[in-house]
Amino acid sequence: MEDLIEKAKAAIDNAYAPYSKFKVAAVVKTKSGKVYTGVNVENASYGLTMCAERVAVFKAVSEGDRDIEAVVVYTDTEEATPPCGACRQVIAEFNPEALIVMASRKKVVTAKLSELLPHAFTGRSLRS
Ligand code: THU
Repeated sequence: MEDLIEKAKAAIDNAYAPYSKFKVAAVVKTKSGKVYTGVNVENASYGLTMCAERVAVFKAVSEGDRDIEAVVVYTDTEEATPPCGACRQVIAEFNPEALIVMASRKKVVTAKLSELLPHAFTGRSLRS
């Protein structure tokens, strides 16, 4: 997992966060072994901001790589940053049991997505 955290650290300078100044980097690892990085991309129209995790997930899915195993969220902060609710929902679409690794410069906290988003709404809910 340390290598994925290093990849996220290396990507964080690409975060575009001129408004919040809160830079986030994410790395998605899929079953194929491939990794996809993402950073937050803000907008002057604040609500259009996209989180790092969703950028990384969308990069993987748009490459046809949907089997998400793990998502790393890295921030250069004291405390680890948990993924926001919207990102939890987007990750759940592809793997409700994904491993979520929240890393800061001091801490690494891991959890299953199902712990962070219990009773997730998924495609199964639509078919029941
Ligand atoms: N942000 C992320 O990139 N991921 C999260 O899970 C939490 C929030 C970004 C969005 C915005 O650019 C900044 O952090 C402050 O909310």
